[in-house]
Amino acid sequence: MAYLAPHSVPLPAPVRIGLIGSGWMGAFHAESIAHRVPGAVLAAIADPNLESAEALAALLGTAHITANPDDILADPTIHAVIIASPARFHAGLITKAAAAGKHIFCEKPAAQDLAELDAALTAVEAAGVHFQIGFNRRYAADFQAAKQDLAAGIVGRPQLLRSLTRDPGSGSIAHAAKVPAWTIFLETLIHDFDTLNWFNEGAEPVEVHAVADALVEPGLRDQGFLDTAVVTVRYSNGAIAVAEANFSALYGYDVRGEVFGSKGMVQAGRATETAARRYTADGLGADTPRLNVELFRQAYTDELADFTAVVSSRRDGTPPPSSAFTLTPGAPDARRALACALACIDSVKQGKSVRVPQVATLQPTQIR
Ligand SMILES: NC(=O)c1ccc[n+]([C@@H]2O[C@H](COP(=O)([O-])OP(=O)(O)OC[C@H]3O[C@@H](n4cnc5c(N)ncnc54)[C@H](O)[C@@H]3O)[C@@H](O)[C@H]2O)c1
Repeated sequence: MAYLAPHSVPLPAPVRIGLIGSGWMGAFHAESIAHRVPGAVLAAIADPNLESAEALAALLGTAHITANPDDILADPTIHAVIIASPARFHAGLITKAAAAGKHIFCEKPAAQDLAELDAALTAVEAAGVHFQIGFNRRYAADFQAAKQDLAAGIVGRPQLLRSLTRDPGSGSIAHAAKVPAWTIFLETLIHDFDTLNWFNEGAEPVEVHAVADALVEPGLRDQGFLDTAVVTVRYSNGAIAVAEANFSALYGYDVRGEVFGSKGMVQAGRATETAARRYTADGLGADTPRLNVELFRQAYTDELADFTAVVSSRRDGTPPPSSAFTLTPGAPDARRALACALACIDSVKQGKSVRVPQVATLQPTQIR
């Protein structure tokens, strides 16, 4: 039988994306765009470390590389950027990218203080570009299933929430001395704050109490290095949350979330990589994910697929992707989570509970 001629359906032009920062996370995002996100093209890579950009471009077959992100921003054929530089450059790059009319996916944190974040978000709003922050946990299948249950009200009124991050480690932390101060709040627990805020949608984080220490690398405590932290968060709806983090789980990368409420409980995340279990004379065993890009491979891909779909729909005037629950993390989510992280830093410094520097008009109703 002869093949039938297909109807010709015009495909939308791909979204051309420029990567800014080709280190650990940027390289994975670049690989996702190049190989796993239909409708997106990795058009250029910028990194002041040109060797890093060159190596990634050679791996992925990307034509354009530059040491200067401004070259990407000046390229009229590029629709959007992924910002994956070190955090201290994020706010400035967001501001410049918005002024250049580029849609923006930015790794967390979007800034290191609220003043620079607000300046960047003002530029985003003025330019009318799409802004998405890299809170990838929202795209993990089990966190989405939990969120769907929460949106359907199965837990009732949230009373207790929990989110934890245990980064994979070996019992000591390589390059710990070079880790910027307060990373545990600004770059690690910021994910947990977003999970808690997202799970407790409609409520505002009002007050935090953070306790932190260097328990993995106690020798670095005097230099201000912190690798272990527990935070309680009070919300405007009265719910109480706990977030905790540690930089060295010997058993792998462990990320979990939970909401307990008036009608029940939902949990998301598991420490094992698969549901397979190994029963031997030594007992019960299971494989665990060792890297963030293993545990969240799908989530990292799906957050970029969402970004691409929104940018594409804006450009082409087509309906944006829809979801049964709030999904895409945007500017208010970036701000809310950063405000929690900054309040934690103050809380540790002051040794007491601290109000979250949120929206100025926020009136907490249920904090006693
Ligand atoms: N979502 C997640 O789970 C996750 C995981 C890891 C890292 N991150 C975030 O990604 C960002 C990058 O982290 P990383 O681990 O990839 O760091 P990294 O040090 O591996 O890479 C950073 C890269 O940015 C480049 N760079 C430095 N200054 C730059 C500038 N001004 N403009 C452009 N590029 C510049 C560096 O040369 C380097 O190649 C951080 O904000 C981090 O918090 C997110």
